[in-house]
Amino acid sequence: MVFSVLDLLCFFLFMILPYSTIAQTSRNISLGSSLTARNDDNSSWASPSGEFAFGFQQIVKDGFLLAIWFNKITERTIVWSANGNNLVPQGSQVELTSDGQFMLNDATGKRIWHAESAGTGVAYAAMLDTGNFVLASQSSSRLWQSFDQPTDTILPTQTLNQNSNLYAHYTATNYSRGRFLFALQSDGNVVLYTTNFPQDSANSAYWSAETKNIGFQVIFNQSGPIYVVSRNGSVLKPILQTSVSTQNYYQRVTLGYDGVLRHYFYPKSASSIAEPRAWSTAVSIPENICFSVAGEMGGGACGFNSLCSRGEDGPNCDCPRGYTSIDPNDVRKGCKQNFVPQSCDQVSPEHLFDFEVMQNTNFPFGDYEHFTVVTEDWCRQNCLDDCFCAVAIVNSGGHCFKKRLPFSNGMIDPRVDAKALIKFGKDNSTSRSGGGAITKKKDNSTLILVGSVLLSSSGVLYILLPLITYLVVSRIYSRKAKVIQPRPVMSGMNLKDFTYEELKKATNEFKDEIGRGASATVFKGVLASDTGRCVAVKRLDAKVRENDLEFKAEVSAIGRTNHRNLVQLLGFCNEGEHRILVYEFMSNGSLAGFLFGESMPNWYQRRQIALGIARGLLYLHEECSSQIVHCDIKPQNILLDDYFTARISDFGLAKLLRLDQTRSMTAIRGTRGYVAPEWFRSLPITVKVDVYSYGILLLEIIFCRKHFVEVADNEDEMILADWAYDCYMQKKLHWLFENDEEEINDINEIEKYVMIAIWCIQEDPSLRPTMKKVTLMLEGTVEVSAPPPLS
Ligand SMILES: *[C@@H]1O[C@H](CO)[C@@H](O)[C@H](O)[C@H]1NC(C)=O
Ligand SMILES: *[C@@H]1O[C@H](CO)[C@@H](O)[C@H](O)[C@H]1NC(C)=O
Ligand SMILES: *[C@@H]1O[C@H](CO)[C@@H](O)[C@H](O)[C@H]1NC(C)=O
Ligand SMILES: *[C@@H]1O[C@H](CO)[C@@H](O)[C@H](O)[C@H]1NC(C)=O
Ligand SMILES: *[C@@H]1O[C@H](CO)[C@@H](O)[C@H](O)[C@H]1NC(C)=O
Ligand SMILES: *[C@@H]1O[C@H](CO)[C@@H](O)[C@H](O)[C@H]1NC(C)=O
Repeated sequence: MVFSVLDLLCFFLFMILPYSTIAQTSRNISLGSSLTARNDDNSSWASPSGEFAFGFQQIVKDGFLLAIWFNKITERTIVWSANGNNLVPQGSQVELTSDGQFMLNDATGKRIWHAESAGTGVAYAAMLDTGNFVLASQSSSRLWQSFDQPTDTILPTQTLNQNSNLYAHYTATNYSRGRFLFALQSDGNVVLYTTNFPQDSANSAYWSAETKNIGFQVIFNQSGPIYVVSRNGSVLKPILQTSVSTQNYYQRVTLGYDGVLRHYFYPKSASSIAEPRAWSTAVSIPENICFSVAGEMGGGACGFNSLCSRGEDGPNCDCPRGYTSIDPNDVRKGCKQNFVPQSCDQVSPEHLFDFEVMQNTNFPFGDYEHFTVVTEDWCRQNCLDDCFCAVAIVNSGGHCFKKRLPFSNGMIDPRVDAKALIKFGKDNSTSRSGGGAITKKKDNSTLILVGSVLLSSSGVLYILLPLITYLVVSRIYSRKAKVIQPRPVMSGMNLKDFTYEELKKATNEFKDEIGRGASATVFKGVLASDTGRCVAVKRLDAKVRENDLEFKAEVSAIGRTNHRNLVQLLGFCNEGEHRILVYEFMSNGSLAGFLFGESMPNWYQRRQIALGIARGLLYLHEECSSQIVHCDIKPQNILLDDYFTARISDFGLAKLLRLDQTRSMTAIRGTRGYVAPEWFRSLPITVKVDVYSYGILLLEIIFCRKHFVEVADNEDEMILADWAYDCYMQKKLHWLFENDEEEINDINEIEKYVMIAIWCIQEDPSLRPTMKKVTLMLEGTVEVSAPPPLS
């Protein structure tokens, strides 16, 4: 635990360091300095720590962006830019002139951008370690700073004042202003809007902090949370609440091109074993943008004629059947019809058109006809016979709404009590573009509650009135009660975020315990939501639950894995103090039960299992997106599915469970267990610790006995590794099998496996083969040479 005391110490030192004055944290950029955009020159002005830099980044072939970026990470993520709408060619120059002007001129000398500095008197510029670029006077007072002109990102220590906006970029790689806006308005309210793209003006609100008349600033506190404060400095409302240490993580809050405002973090060093070196999302708003964005004007979160559904980390935009993306590189442009539209004097349209039926789907606006009380069949037939009808919406109240092109705000959400019948042409041999133009009418609405937007429009939603009222009221209520705590969004995976209630129900209140480890208990559960699928629900104990951030990092690493020899993580629950992982259920229990139980599995099955485990480990070590060292390979952690395929479980938990591992290791010190010797010698922990454990496990699989047997007939037999090694050396391996015909017939193969195991359990980690090599040896692709002696 020494490291955490150090961490704490560093943290305090870090807090004490004064941040306020420029002189202490910056190298000065003197008057007359300049940078030129060039393909062959990456020069930039870095902050004293090197963590941020100011300069040109090449975005397209001959297009440069004047920007500030995170300079110590490979992605060089941009946090501010001057000319996103207007990239400059090679040869353009940014210059701090001798009279204190700061400007960007293109190669012909035409001015593209300049810092509108408060008066004159600029004496120098500086790139600060906070990510703020400043122009300062002789007395170091700031005359201009990039923090006052944010683009789509704010950084720790940054403050937004009234009348500040963040504009989403157009796409991930296009830095011009896009379709969403985060505003701290002059009335003090903090609001997320769609814009009237390509204009910047606000269209419809889809989230608000509800701080009208009381909000004054938005502060990204150095210690993590982002909140709205009032004029007297009191904290009014958290916007994104999480505590991520600035000491260990780079952080930013960015309004994504998909309209989601996310708090991202990125580990500063690659110290931990399982943590990905990439930006991960800690928290984000709104919870589901598909459901929140609902403006009568505009196409919605995904554009016209499209469908928006909640994805892993933000919305997924898809085209319904019969429609295709107008621009596959920019799905938010919407979808076009790819069938010949229905002619109005068509006879028997049923031969040519059909409906795609989508549950929990609605397009809340643009109805042109409404019928009650009718059946779904009646509604379908009515829309089929009607050449104007592109979509019909039916709901449980017997309502039928008809919509024509383009339809907008398509949303799929479990809260939607409606079914969409989307008409498509059965013969799509000829295509036609059906996308609509973006309307540019300005809507002057100020703060609108998401729910009320929905209420004021489509008739369909009147049916939903009680539900929405409930949602809105309970949302307001819960904000009052415990401030906003949006559900965390995990990046890069497809995991279900379970509620605690759901899992409590699934496990019959955590009654059916199927396993218990040092830091977790596993229960069997049945998911009602997933047609009675059986799952294993792993509840982590209090001591490993403390670090929320680590939990997220671990879960996101585990969620990115997918291999037939791993137990698949299906979801998680991270609610209050509950930290729960939900896995596939393995019907045939653990390898421990299989190997050491009543009936001995045959040699063929055991070989398949040994090979399966090796392949699973190889995947964790070398093939998944971020390397995972398991650290706890033992028969209890290998499970068997319906087909007795070996599946590794508990991977990716090394860091969460580290405390406990250290403890149990002290207990087994001296016996040769599954634990590699470097754990006791403060040697670096690498993938080779798993190779060691695998070696021991392989011996257990070969000989179908536990590694350590306290009361053996003979003292030499107590420790399997020693005994097997002696027998191998004396060429007496067949002794170990006495009267098992199958093994005796395959004794050469067995000897080969024993040799592989001996290679794996070498004291010196560098002598142990990689799992790749082990797999190749097991498969017979690579010859197994005689292993060095065991010391
Ligand atoms: C500039 O940076 C790019 C990308 O990081 C790199 O490929 C290139 O070699 C660098 N050029 C120079 C002159 O350092
Ligand atoms: C930067 O320039 C200002 C004004 O000339 C001066 O007071 C300050 O000491 C300089 N800082 C550094 C680090 O050179
Ligand atoms: C970015 O997108 C805008 C809007 O579609 C477009 O006008 C501009 O050319 C794009 N910029 C680049 C560099 O592709
Ligand atoms: C803001 O950060 C400072 C310094 O880390 C801390 O002392 C303070 O409690 C934080 N304020 C809030 C409201 O989190
Ligand atoms: C600060 O302002 C808020 C909102 O205007 C108010 O509720 C609070 O009482 C004020 N606090 C103090 C100490 O004046
Ligand atoms: C219609 O489109 C689908 C998918 O694009 C394709 O598989 C099918 O063959 C097409 N049918 C006709 C009649 O062109």
